[in-house]
Amino acid sequence: MNVIMKGEELAAAIPDNVHAEKVTAVKHYTDRLFQFRITRPASFRFRSGEFVMIGLMIDGKPLYRAYSIASPSWDEELEFFSIKVPDGPLTQHLQKIEVGDTILMKKKPTGTLVNDALLPGKRVYMFSTGTGIAPFASLIRDPETYEKFDEVILTHTCRNVNELKYGEELVSAIGEDPLIGEIAKGKLKLYNSVTREDYPRTGRITSLIDSGKLFDDVGVPPLDPQVDRAMICGSMEMIRDTKVLLEQRGLTEGANNKPAEFVVERAFVG
Ligand code: A2P
Repeated sequence: MNVIMKGEELAAAIPDNVHAEKVTAVKHYTDRLFQFRITRPASFRFRSGEFVMIGLMIDGKPLYRAYSIASPSWDEELEFFSIKVPDGPLTQHLQKIEVGDTILMKKKPTGTLVNDALLPGKRVYMFSTGTGIAPFASLIRDPETYEKFDEVILTHTCRNVNELKYGEELVSAIGEDPLIGEIAKGKLKLYNSVTREDYPRTGRITSLIDSGKLFDDVGVPPLDPQVDRAMICGSMEMIRDTKVLLEQRGLTEGANNKPAEFVVERAFVG
């Protein structure tokens, strides 16, 4: 039986190099997915799209996993979108958190899914599967993304229809936001599909790229390295296969110190 520390015992055990933050909201989407928000330390700075190490004290020891920050860099709080793994060392506990609980967060954010790692372009594709949508939830709420690109196409593919809800709610909330809604208007498009259930659009994103259906549906020309940029976040296999398709179309992989046409990051499993 694992013991999660709380109260004074927890306060005394928190290591010096981490922030101890309070949970402000928890929302469960399915039996596999949930979202939570925590307070943001005043000193904590990050670039939209980056990830950070999040943890809990379990059996007297801190246990951390990498989590993409789903909120934009201007937000007062920090948002995360997580999978629930029944016997996952961290997520079996994390999925039980409640408002007021303490979450540990290491001080240094990092990551490659940032606007700085892409060359300027006309259009950016954000290809995501499952919880891989999290870094894009941050980027599509950041005005900088719309300053850099005229069109932002977020693709989200999940096994089941109910897993698409987080992305759908996110994009409709952006539409209603007085500030970002105005900036994103006519620029942001959500293109989702499922692979294991009936739905108006089915199929892996790799098939939808390869067949050209994605471009026909959105009403844009096929991928062109002169104008198109991309970010990929999903499982290792999804990244590998999507990357091959982009490279076949002449796009090259970039990094923070060498911006290019696309960047990748693995969706972390808690
Ligand atoms: P599928 O149902 O055909 O496996 P997961 O939860 O396993 O990460 O999957 C999330 C979504 O990513 C699913 O819709 C899954 O499709 C899809 N997917 C899995 N592997 C790949 C891949 N190699 N390329 C593209 N999409 C993939």
